Parts: sequence; structure tokens; C-alpha cells
Amino acid sequence: MNILLLGSGGRESALAWKIAQSPLVDRFFIAPGNPGTAELGENVSLNLSDFDEIAAFAIDYEVQLMVVGPEVPLVNGIADYFAHHSLLKDICVIGPCREGAQLEGSKDFAKAFMTRHHIPTAQYATFTRSDYEAGCAFMRSLQPPYVLKADGLAAGKGVVILPTFEEACAELKAMLDGEFGTASSKVVIEEFMDGIECSVFVLTDGEHYVMLPEAKDYKRIGEGDKGPNTGGMGSVSPVPFADKAWMERVRTQIVEPTISGLRQEGIAYQGFIFFGLINIGGQPKVIEYNCRMGDPETESVMLRLKTDIVELFEAVREHRLDKVAVEFDERAAACVMVVSGGYPGAYEKNKPIRIGDVGRSVVFHAGTCTDGSQLLTSGGRVIAVSSYGSTLREALDQSMKAAENISFEGAYHRRDIGRDVLSD
Ligand code: AMP
Ligand code: GLY
Repeated sequence: MNILLLGSGGRESALAWKIAQSPLVDRFFIAPGNPGTAELGENVSLNLSDFDEIAAFAIDYEVQLMVVGPEVPLVNGIADYFAHHSLLKDICVIGPCREGAQLEGSKDFAKAFMTRHHIPTAQYATFTRSDYEAGCAFMRSLQPPYVLKADGLAAGKGVVILPTFEEACAELKAMLDGEFGTASSKVVIEEFMDGIECSVFVLTDGEHYVMLPEAKDYKRIGEGDKGPNTGGMGSVSPVPFADKAWMERVRTQIVEPTISGLRQEGIAYQGFIFFGLINIGGQPKVIEYNCRMGDPETESVMLRLKTDIVELFEAVREHRLDKVAVEFDERAAACVMVVSGGYPGAYEKNKPIRIGDVGRSVVFHAGTCTDGSQLLTSGGRVIAVSSYGSTLREALDQSMKAAENISFEGAYHRRDIGRDVLSD
């Protein structure tokens, strides 16, 4: 089978690593990919916002399966574009239609969906510019801190949490006035939930689903979860508190009502659903949905998925995900992200990268490029290094050791990834 994977970050590097292991693959293309994916398949220079260009490539190269890594093409309707094109409609797209992608593309849509299907989540209300006063009044009914979310996609920056009512009202005004462009013309205000987070991943054919290994990511730049949010500084899988009983609650109270809710509403959803959850005294609640895999969770999750992922994709195509057994690796996995100095603020690019001895760790490229002779940094998050261990501690120790041996000017990584969930 010829497969096309869209994307170029650490998540796509991990997906590519897993896909490339499948004996079912004939030709494997990654668009646009990065120097890491170039070693796993053929990188193709395609613009992910130009669906005509992607379509022409898919036809010319007889692509049979397309996996969409990032959310933007999905929210922009790439799956619908393929489904409605006479020469593309038989290509299996792993990624939902535009309406399904609204679970991520509109926080208001996601919250209303959860309310309709009685899925546990924070209490909320949505406001536009004309009801700023009502927004402030709603906040009066909540306890601080205040959680404000731009309704639309804001490159992971659209959630603002503020300690005082005055600051929250000022922020609401700024958002409604276009702080995040049209993404914040609607703002969801919700109750603050205090707990520990966990990311749960499902692959669905629209009717059946399989659960993938769960993971926890670390979003803040600084150790001890301090400082500004980033795209993710590391991840671990499994998550010790997500035991059998907790995951069963997730399955029955969150995953199943979501899949059946999509079906009831006639929303065709074929692809990954990422449930951003929070554990509050043993009760899982949904913080957010994403219509794709998580980054850097995928860099741990793919290590723990034993089953051939292409077999799972084939089962999606044939609507028989209920007939496949998904096997997890019993070992733990941990990912540490090596980032550019200054990130998530301003940082310099084009720093030569030296990858030293990483032992048995897997090196996933996230923000790298090449000038033809050497590997250079090209983004904030540069390299994700992932390792197995017979325990989480072992996996973490191995990834930390490997991260020390990835060097470029200004390189930084957190040394406390996973510490909060280690029991010993
Ligand atoms: P998001 O961009 O939706 O992933 O949100 C970013 C982060 O904000 C989440 O990972 C949580 O840490 C935090 N967050 C979002 N909503 C809430 C909430 N209602 N209560 C507490 N923290 C939240
Ligand atoms: N790790 C969080 C995300 O991918 O959105």
C-alpha cells in the first residue's frame, strides 16, 4: 500500500517511525516531512494548505491511505475535499471531516457537544463582543482562577488562566477585541478544574474504536511546571494513576458517549480522537478534544503500541476496528524534548546539531532542517528523544541521558519530566 503522511513535526516523526515498520507499506511519503522522516520514507515538498497540490500528488503516486498529522488541514476540510473528489474518494483518510474536526476547531462546539451527550466537563458559557457584560457577570458566579478560551484554533495559545476577576474581565475584552484574531471573536469561559492531566487516544472508524496507550505531557518550559506554556517538553506512558478502574470510567463515561454522540449526530469521524482529561478525585473530566494525535505524547505512545498501525488503519478503512486486538508493549516509554534557547519566546535558528551516543533511545526530529551537509535547528522544539524502560524511571533516566548527548548552541531540556507521577 502507498501511504502519504501529512506533517513535519515530532508527532509525524513518531507516526512515520511506526508506519515504516509495517510490512504492508509499499511506498511511504511524508509531506513535507523533515530530515528525520527522510530516513523512514520519501519526503515530498507539498503545501498543506493547498489541497489541489496534495490531490495531484496522491493521484500521480497512487496513494491509497493518507494520514493527516496536524489539525489545521482537518479543520479546513481536507477529508471532505478527498471524499467529494471522484479520483480521491477511494483513498482512506485517517482524520475526520470538517464537522468532526470542530471538536477541536471550536471550543464552543465541543462544549455544546459534551453537554448534549452528558460527558463530564467543566461548567461553561460562551460570549461574543455584544455580551461582554454578561461574560463578566458569568465570571462573578465562578470561583477564581478564571479560564478563558478562544473559540477557534490559536496554535495552542488560546487558553488564558487568570487569578483575579479584574484581570479576567480585561482579558475577556482583549480577546473579544481580536487578541487571537477571529479565533477569539467568541470566548468560552469555564470553571477552573484542579487536578492532574492525562491524554487518552482513540482510533475510530466512526462506529467502533480502539484505545491506544495513554500518556501525560509536560507543557510548561520550566522545571516544576513553571513558566510559559510550550508545545510540549516531554511525555510519559503509561500514566500511573490511569489504572484499570480509571480507564474504565474514561471508556464508559467519556469515550463511548463521544463516539455514539458523533454517530447520532451524523458526523462521519474516521481517525484519531485525543481526549485531554483531568482527574479530579478519581473522576475523569474532559478539558478538551483534539482531532489528531498529541505532540509530544505520540513520541511515547508509538513506542508502546505493539500492533502494526497500518493494520489498524486498514481496519478503519474496512469498518472492522471491533475485530482487531490492540497490543501494548508492557514496557514504559518516556520522551524528553530538546528545545532552542529562548523558546517559547524568541529563539535563533540554523544552529548545527550534534547527535552523540543516544544508546537505544529513538531520536525523533521535530524542528530540524539541513543545508545539504549538516543538520540544523529550524524550530523551537528541535529533537524529541524517546526511550523504553522496564519502569518509567528507567525510561526517563535513559531519555535524560540521551538528551544530554544532543547538543547545539542554546539547547535546553527539562530534567524533571515524569517526576510528578513516579511513585518511588
Ligand atoms: P488547551 O489549549 O485547551 O489544551 O488548554 C491548555 C491547558 O490549559 C490545558 O492543558 C490545561 O492545563 C489548562 N486548562 C484548560 N482548561 C482548564 C480548566 N477548565 N481548568 C483548569 N485548567 C485548564
Ligand atoms: N500535547 C498537547 C497537544 O498536542 O495538543
